[in-house]
Amino acid sequence: MPVVIFEDEEKSVEVEAGTSIQDANDKADANIPFGCTQGECGTCLIEVLSGMENLTPITEDEDMTLSAEEKAANYRLACQCKITGGEIKIQPTDEIF
Ligand code: FES
Repeated sequence: MPVVIFEDEEKSVEVEAGTSIQDANDKADANIPFGCTQGECGTCLIEVLSGMENLTPITEDEDMTLSAEEKAANYRLACQCKITGGEIKIQPTDEIF
């Protein structure tokens, strides 16, 4: 089963392929903050430390909300992406301006 590792909290959780990172966060009782859950507010910004290839592609809303610098730094919006398999390592992060 796919594994989501919450690096800053030293927690991990196994989930089904296709599970949203928001649902994985809830299952692990991890601390990623959420706001709009629509890809618009940026509250759920995460840094993908490894396993970007195991996440669904960037959504149209993410593309509009994330800056070019954030995309280049492997940042995603946790409310928008889902794990497709394998393992990912993530942590909440602050905006890059
Ligand atoms: S919670 Fe608002 S962008 Fe994810």
